[in-house]
Amino acid sequence: MLVALLPGDGIGPEVVAEAVRVLDAAGVTGLTYESAVVGGAAWKASGHPLPPATLELARRADAILFGAVGDPDCDALERRLRPEQAILGLRAELALFANLRPAKLYPELADASALRPEIAREIDMVIVRELNGDVYFGEKGHRTTAAGLREGYDVMSYDESEVARIARVGFETARARKGRLVSVDKANVLETSQLWRDVVIETHADYPDVALSHLYVDNAAMQLVRNPGQFDVIVTGNLFGDILSDQASMCAGSIGMLPSASLDSAGKGLYEPIHGSAPDIAGQGKANPLAAILSAAMMLRYSLGKPDDADRIEAAVGAALAAGARSPDLGGSHSTTEMGDAVIRALG
Ligand code: NAD
Ligand code: IPM
Ligand code: MN
Repeated sequence: MLVALLPGDGIGPEVVAEAVRVLDAAGVTGLTYESAVVGGAAWKASGHPLPPATLELARRADAILFGAVGDPDCDALERRLRPEQAILGLRAELALFANLRPAKLYPELADASALRPEIAREIDMVIVRELNGDVYFGEKGHRTTAAGLREGYDVMSYDESEVARIARVGFETARARKGRLVSVDKANVLETSQLWRDVVIETHADYPDVALSHLYVDNAAMQLVRNPGQFDVIVTGNLFGDILSDQASMCAGSIGMLPSASLDSAGKGLYEPIHGSAPDIAGQGKANPLAAILSAAMMLRYSLGKPDDADRIEAAVGAALAAGARSPDLGGSHSTTEMGDAVIRALG
């Protein structure tokens, strides 16, 4: 099975290297790897953040292990050339519409959470984020108003088929867990959200065994820090899911802990930590690689049919934390490589 390695920018290559080391050490059989440049690194090498050869590899591969893209050197480029367009392009080109972002507190990290330990201990949720629509992919641009003022605009929209297919992923995910789904929207203000809510309610008819409720996104952000233990599965749109998942990560200890899977309708996936390229710590060996390592475990489970290997790697992450491995974001001083070493040791 072919795994495309797209390490990208900043800490992306640092954390992907640890994930690959862990896959090797776990003795996962039958994997071959091919790497390609993506993001700012690709723009610097070839003038485009998502070169045709990288997209071709991503299409050909059975799964994609992605690091992060984003480079301050590129922030002034025209938008189509910016590193972030590479990940948006991959999500769109490969129709990776379902983004699963599990947030679970490892008990050893209760003190690393931004929340009080007794509140943090309850965290065990999956955020199901729609990834192919919303304000991300609507018409956008700059124009001049009648009054001669510069104006920026980004159109937010979802059609009913886009909402129904991600709602189904939300219901299925909840059904396989504790059976509770919270749909997050802003239906009190946005027409896009009103349609979202209507379609989620219609789709619920096929999942009577799942308990469905709704929250406005501002309330959801508040509930996430007030009582995160109330959430089993959250389903939400692209923008709200982006924001709420970063918030959930800090509740669960660190943004360096949260993996993700971005899946198409056939289960092909791109796997990446939810964090970015972290230019502030890149090249210093400070990045926490556990989110990337856990993303590799999700890849084994969802795309490569190796749930036992996924379980072993996830257990080794827990054991490494229990043995005291802590990168700086977790309040310790382990380097990126030392964190990888700790997981490898725990694999036994
Ligand atoms: P970021 O996630 O890169 O970093 C936010 C903060 O968290 C920083 O202080 C960083 O040092 C810290 N952090 C992130 N990951 C960490 C890890 N593994 N270990 C320890 N600390 C970690 O977000 P940002 O600073 O807003 O964005 C930086 C760049 O990354 C931007 O160009 C942005 O567009 C891009 N980005 C890319 C992705 C992606 O590739 N999917 C995701 C988010 C942001
Ligand atoms: C993420 C990132 C991306 C997003 C950016 C880099 C386009 O923040 O994967 O969470 O907004 O989806
Ligand atoms: Mn994000």
